[in-house]
Amino acid sequence: MAEISDILSNRRTIRKYSTESVDDKLLSDILAMGCRTSTTGNMQVYSIIITKDEGKKKELAPLHFNQKMITEAPVVLTFCADFNRFNKWCRLRNADPGYDNFLSFMTAAIDALLFAQTVCIAAESKGLGICYLGTTTYTAEKIIEILKLPKSVVPVTSVTLGWPAEKPEQVDRLPLEAIIHYEVYNDYSDDSIASYYKGKEERQDSQQFVKENNKQTLAQVFTDVRYKKADNVHFSKIVLKVLKDQGFMEQ
Ligand SMILES: Cc1cc2nc3c(=O)[nH]c(=O)nc-3n(C[C@H](O)[C@H](O)[C@H](O)COP(=O)(O)O)c2cc1C
Repeated sequence: MAEISDILSNRRTIRKYSTESVDDKLLSDILAMGCRTSTTGNMQVYSIIITKDEGKKKELAPLHFNQKMITEAPVVLTFCADFNRFNKWCRLRNADPGYDNFLSFMTAAIDALLFAQTVCIAAESKGLGICYLGTTTYTAEKIIEILKLPKSVVPVTSVTLGWPAEKPEQVDRLPLEAIIHYEVYNDYSDDSIASYYKGKEERQDSQQFVKENNKQTLAQVFTDVRYKKADNVHFSKIVLKVLKDQGFMEQ
């Protein structure tokens, strides 16, 4: 079996999967490993919805902007910040839950994301491939409807899971020193920004990206095409409404 250090160093996102299914016992073992991850106060304020049904995947597909992984992967996992279960337990045991606020959403979202990432590593350690779907937060309102999520439950991310049918090149990362600060934050000079992003900007695929999108710089591809202000503002409003509707903005 591969060392954990090799699994982490060699991993890449997988977006193409074989038609082979993921065995229920294997999935259950992976989720059990995920559950060993740290969780705030050991409350485990998260849940996971497993989608294998083809019809359900087709319903979810447009909510993930029809990214083909949704229908092609044998399993779609939706990770949720979940205070519903914990609130119910409190009420049944004569305890008054004070979790209808933004901090509690953050707590549950952090728990859910840590769980998600451990599940992903566990899956990768078994040779499976994963792809996160950031579209979950954009369309949370409709995902809540389709997956029948009750109040106090908010989907925070989704992951497609299956046996890899590709081995893409690993993509770049910033140099390690770009993200490390010793003791206090050491803010970036223009020169250090230029040097940290140089490698990314000089990549052939980055330059191709700039050209294809008729932009002058790679940064513009992010600000004007991939993660635009108008979209961010639009989806922020939706996320805030979801948090309100799901009961996390009462105080
Ligand atoms: C929160 C999150 C959301 C993501 N959303 C998407 C997505 O919607 N579609 C997709 O193809 N990849 C998605 N990814 C995968 C990233 O594009 C990928 O991790 C990144 O490009 C680095 O590639 P690597 O994982 O192969 O190192 C997402 C990753 C994260 C962490």
